[in-house]
Amino acid sequence: MQIAIDGPSGSGKSTIAKMLSQKAGIVYMDTGALYRASGLFAIRMGTNLEDEAAIKGIIDKMRLEIKYIDGEQRTFLNGEDVTNAVRADEVGLAASAVGRFEFVRERVVSFIRDTASKQSVVMDGRDIGTVVLPNADVKIFLTASVDIRTRRRCVELAALLGHDVDYDTIFAQIEQRDYQDMNRKIAPLKKADDAVEIDAAHLTKEEVVDKILEIDAVTHFLKNEGDDE
Ligand code: DC
Repeated sequence: MQIAIDGPSGSGKSTIAKMLSQKAGIVYMDTGALYRASGLFAIRMGTNLEDEAAIKGIIDKMRLEIKYIDGEQRTFLNGEDVTNAVRADEVGLAASAVGRFEFVRERVVSFIRDTASKQSVVMDGRDIGTVVLPNADVKIFLTASVDIRTRRRCVELAALLGHDVDYDTIFAQIEQRDYQDMNRKIAPLKKADDAVEIDAAHLTKEEVVDKILEIDAVTHFLKNEGDDE
């Protein structure tokens, strides 16, 4: 069973994918974390993120791995657990920048496909339904307006940092990331023709998950899994 959840940053994909993985009893794979680890690698190597040739020159030194510890994905960069380090906003922007390059995507995509061929998975990203797993059993495209995503991110950041953050700054960052992700040449963020679009703006997380659980292919999968036990 392969469930692909695509959408812009801050639409709540990872939260929904994690909840779904628990309900469906299948592994959750955070593909963004792999691009983030690639972005972090480029930052740490002191590479200019716009310089394609320079990044190509160092990419063979990058080794990505994921492990599931207590049911949670941990992401490793050259043997170091970078699960928390990759969450920083500047690493997100770096991920979006290096994710434009074909050789970066090839490495990450082959890693993802390999993992997805061995087990049932739900994964979130930008191009899962369109490029990575075009034959996924279920494809979801999750959206929400820039304003709503900014407000959510401001609340999250304020909780994390312990002080208020500037709405306009976050709004501009989210717009920049959307633009980069939707306009890159290779595998841009877009809805697959056969994806179910869900606007998460006025739904709770539980309501979004319930909508996905009601999709025929998911209902059948869960029923068959239940019958097997
Ligand atoms: O989902 P996220 O915010 O962790 O992703 C960080 C960046 O990585 C995102 O801006 C674009 C890139 N990305 C991608 O190009 N393809 C994916 N499947 C996932 C993420």
